[in-house]
Order: sequence, then structure tokens, then C-alpha cells
Amino acid sequence: MLAIYPGSFDPITLGHLDIIERGCRLFDQVIVAVLRNPSKTPLFTVPERIEQIRQSTQHLSNLEVDSFDGLTVNYAKLRQANALLRGLRVLSDFEMELQMAHTNKTLSERIETIFLATSNEYSFLSSSLVKEIARFGGPIDHLVPKHVAIDIYKCFAKTHLASPQTTDLAPVPERPRMESTTETPHGQEA
Ligand code: PNS
Repeated sequence: MLAIYPGSFDPITLGHLDIIERGCRLFDQVIVAVLRNPSKTPLFTVPERIEQIRQSTQHLSNLEVDSFDGLTVNYAKLRQANALLRGLRVLSDFEMELQMAHTNKTLSERIETIFLATSNEYSFLSSSLVKEIARFGGPIDHLVPKHVAIDIYKCFAKTHLASPQTTDLAPVPERPRMESTTETPHGQEA
């Protein structure tokens, strides 16, 4: 069975990675699908997020990383997937996730949403939280893959004066931007 794991992944966290790895054990194939969302101002462009996810998941042979726009169910139909994979962290996730699952069910009867309970150690973790910590110079290398932490520090290096308080990652200079996007990255969090 093929499952789509849709999301913003701005950026991928260890919580996402936990769901991806467990999803890859459950399904024959998993596609991590990054939403191209013009109504959000992301920190990273879609190509950057795809590259971050690819680098984090090189050990998973039944995983593909892609992007999509529009409705998730339409993308799932296009890829002939029968399942949408989502992580559930806390009770407050449940209401929104259930609403999404029900909405998606009205749009396509044959596509099921499968929820995985996020592992305990990541139940508090979100991309927004990681960005907030980094924005104020706090340590994030225990929350995201190491190369993603470096990317985030580079983004914020120009905006905060204090060095990131991390044990094994030094502050890094501003990096060159990747091309091929129409988004306005590195702006304020939506
Ligand atoms: O990582 P996120 O931001 O929680 O992911 C949310 C996502 C991308 C899964 C959701 O917003 C989505 O599916 N958007 C695509 C538009 C869509 O299909 N809407 C109808 C379902 S509510």
C-alpha cells in the first residue's frame, strides 16, 4: 500500500522523521508531500524543504519526497495512493486532524487517513516551536536533524545578535539562497 504523508515541513523536525520512519515500516511505499502554499510565508522554500527531507531520509529506500499544490486528495489520486498518513501529538491536534480527515473523506471515499501517535519524546515538538527557539538564539540541534539546525541558524544569523546557545553547533554566516521558487522565504512566521 502507498501512503502520502502531506504537510508543510517548514522545516522537517525529529517528530516528522519519527512518523516517516514508522510509516515506512508500515507501508510498502511512502511519499512525503510538501504543500506549496502561497498563503503562507515560509522560512524555507519548497525546494529547500524537499532537500532537507531527502537528506534526512537517505536511509529509507521506500520513501519518495515530492511537492504538490491544491487538494491533498487530488494529489493522492494522482499518485494512486489509498492512504494519507498524519501524526497525532496531543489532544489539541485531534480536533483539527479529525476535521481534515472527515473533509478529505467527503472528497474521496476511497482514501483513508491513518494516524500515528507521535512518539512520547516528540509530543511537544513543532516546526513553529523550533523556529521560535532559533529566532531567540536557543538550541535546536536536539529537535531537528543536524543539517536542518545549521540551515535554520544560517537563516537567523542575520537577524539576531546573540550566538545560538548550542553545545555542538557554532553560529554560521549567512548562506547563499537557493533559486527556483516563487515564495518569499525567510520572512515572518505565518
Ligand atoms: O504540516 P501541516 O501544515 O499541518 O499540513 C497541513 C496539510 C498540508 C496536510 C493540510 O493543510 C492540507 O492538506 N492542505 C491542502 C489543502 C486541502 O487538501 N484541504 C482540504 C483538507 S482540510
